[in-house]
Amino acid sequence: MKLFWIWLTFSTGLSLAVNPQRLTSGRLKQSVVPPQQWRKYSAPLPGSRIELRIGLVQPFMHVLENHIQEISDPDHERYGQHLSKSEWLHVHGIEDTNISCTPAQDWIVVTLPISLAEKMLDTNYYVWQHDDGDFTIRTTSYNLPEHLFNHIDLIQPTTMFARLSNMKTTLYMTKNNIALGSSHAKELTLITPSSDSQNDCNYTVTLNCLQSLYNTVGYQTRAHSRNSIGLTGYLEQYANQEDLKLFFADQNPGAANASLDVILINGGFNNQSAQEAGDEANLDVQFALGLSYPTPGVFYSTGGEPPFDPDQGTESNTNEPYAKWLDYIFSQDNPPLTISTSYGDHEQTVPEDYARRTCERFMALGARGVTLTFSSGDGGVGDGISDPAFQTCLTNDGKNETRFLPVFPSSCPYVTSVGGTRGIPEEAAFFSGGGFSFYVITSFDRPWYQDRAVNEFLETLGEHTYSDLFNRFGRAYPDVSAQGVNFRVFIGSKPYLISGTSASSPTFAGIVALLNDARLHAGLPPLGFLNPLLYKRGAEALNDVTVGNNPGCGTNGFNATEGWDPGLGTPNFEKLEKIVLESQMWKRSG
Ligand SMILES: *[C@@H]1O[C@H](CO)[C@@H](O)[C@H](O)[C@H]1NC(C)=O
Ligand SMILES: *[C@@H]1O[C@H](CO)[C@@H](O)[C@H](O)[C@H]1NC(C)=O
Ligand SMILES: *[C@@H]1O[C@H](CO)[C@@H](O)[C@H](O)[C@H]1NC(C)=O
Ligand SMILES: *[C@@H]1O[C@H](CO)[C@@H](O)[C@H](O)[C@H]1NC(C)=O
Ligand SMILES: *[C@@H]1O[C@H](CO)[C@@H](O)[C@H](O)[C@H]1NC(C)=O
Ligand SMILES: *[C@@H]1O[C@H](CO)[C@@H](O)[C@H](O)[C@H]1NC(C)=O
Repeated sequence: MKLFWIWLTFSTGLSLAVNPQRLTSGRLKQSVVPPQQWRKYSAPLPGSRIELRIGLVQPFMHVLENHIQEISDPDHERYGQHLSKSEWLHVHGIEDTNISCTPAQDWIVVTLPISLAEKMLDTNYYVWQHDDGDFTIRTTSYNLPEHLFNHIDLIQPTTMFARLSNMKTTLYMTKNNIALGSSHAKELTLITPSSDSQNDCNYTVTLNCLQSLYNTVGYQTRAHSRNSIGLTGYLEQYANQEDLKLFFADQNPGAANASLDVILINGGFNNQSAQEAGDEANLDVQFALGLSYPTPGVFYSTGGEPPFDPDQGTESNTNEPYAKWLDYIFSQDNPPLTISTSYGDHEQTVPEDYARRTCERFMALGARGVTLTFSSGDGGVGDGISDPAFQTCLTNDGKNETRFLPVFPSSCPYVTSVGGTRGIPEEAAFFSGGGFSFYVITSFDRPWYQDRAVNEFLETLGEHTYSDLFNRFGRAYPDVSAQGVNFRVFIGSKPYLISGTSASSPTFAGIVALLNDARLHAGLPPLGFLNPLLYKRGAEALNDVTVGNNPGCGTNGFNATEGWDPGLGTPNFEKLEKIVLESQMWKRSG
């Protein structure tokens, strides 16, 4: 902390005791080529301000990494021994301070004039305009003084051009049970399903058919007062309480009194007007709460910054709502034990250092006993924005090479990534995002827990298949999958059919919440980071999906096979329950 303040006081010209040479002896920290959709628009107006987040190097991260390997391994004697919030800070070697840090104390946040930020970082900010008209302020490279270089991990917003895009970009209307192709979220089609197809996941996905398919029928929750499930909402997606009631009246009348807590973060809203009901938010809330009922649900509506007007100057938007949500959730002593998120963006738009920081924060939540599920994306191995045969899938590193396009945060090894299936018997949905990260986030190339499963898949695939298109040493995702086509959801008081891995993540999360219920009732700690358990024991308890593929980038993508194949399979609750109850916390003898 002290280093930063010395630097800041120096940069503001208040400290005269520092050698002024240092201002100009900056060392390049990072440089990027902006994605093609962004164009330089103008220089920032004089007097504009910017909120910088300064990520301090965290020398204790490897301690936490060791720790999570032990507590998430069902065969380790420390399995399930999660950390409380203050224990977690202690692992980081952090004592109580009152500097202006994020609650996890891993970032310093400071708002200052852009002109000063430019001086500090030896760079020039520009206003950039996206093809769709949005503006942002970013720079393509920045420098740090030599004496701070190794103490600061990264500073944002600088080079990050990522925008959270809604995962649920693939919507279908059905006619005679045939998908008619993708359309935009706003073009939802009102459907009137015939009564005979109501309880058959092959045609229309409802709570009833999911409960049969994933084997939760008859399970009685007994620890729900100590359990909860969270759903994150971004991009002005509002969860409508009236729609939740209509959904339950339609699909589970016994849950008519289900309650949804709403928490507003960073200026988020949750407008209850019917025309503001969000398709994504309603889908997430209705199915996650429906499957885990009566487990209490929490919806987090995290606001972005106000739209940035380049001609007004004022404060620029940081467009990093994940960070704001993480700040909030870290400050909580008892966050929900299962949290589902259906948003993401192409990994390559998130600078590797930023992705790593965010991923490490997800790891820390896992270490505190929270299971995080994320949708794997709706673009197959590609970008999903056009016919897979014509996708170019170009890298944005200035080389324009064709590569599969992994999606972050699913590509983070410390989250549980959920892909999509369709039909009965289940096959991989063609849009299901899946592949391999290009980033190295853990101390290893591929996370330890999946190395064996993924190597078997790669052996079957062969050394030469797609060898230029993906990183065969990277974190492979998704980890599991669940139905993702034709979910019957209420939006603005009417039923719609919605498809996408946006549906799969809350579905899987609903099952995890029931598993946590079983563990809490048995006096066991919650599951926390789930992947090591899934890869070690999952074969016994997941339905392997062996048909289908996920085309993109002019290829047919990866084929579903036996074993991991993007994804281990879909849940069988009864079998999973047995496994999670067997994975007891080891009692130390003596
Ligand atoms: C907290 O802030 C107060 C006043 O701003 C200051 O006197 C004190 O030293 C600070 N404490 C720490 C631990 O930084
Ligand atoms: C599911 O629907 C498909 C047609 O969409 C049909 O071929 C298949 O037999 C159905 N499966 C079951 C189990 O009814
Ligand atoms: C919902 O709450 C009302 C009022 O407390 C009660 O009369 C009703 O039985 C409840 N319905 C269900 C399905 O629990
Ligand atoms: C909620 O949305 C409605 C419809 O768009 C709008 O008229 C109303 O002003 C909004 N309410 C708030 C508090 O923003
Ligand atoms: C990459 O492709 C874009 C759009 O097709 C083009 O504008 C750009 O000049 C290309 N860059 C290189 C290095 O070829
Ligand atoms: C996927 O399966 C099809 C049909 O069996 C086969 O032709 C193709 O080569 C396989 N592709 C990969 C990448 O394994």
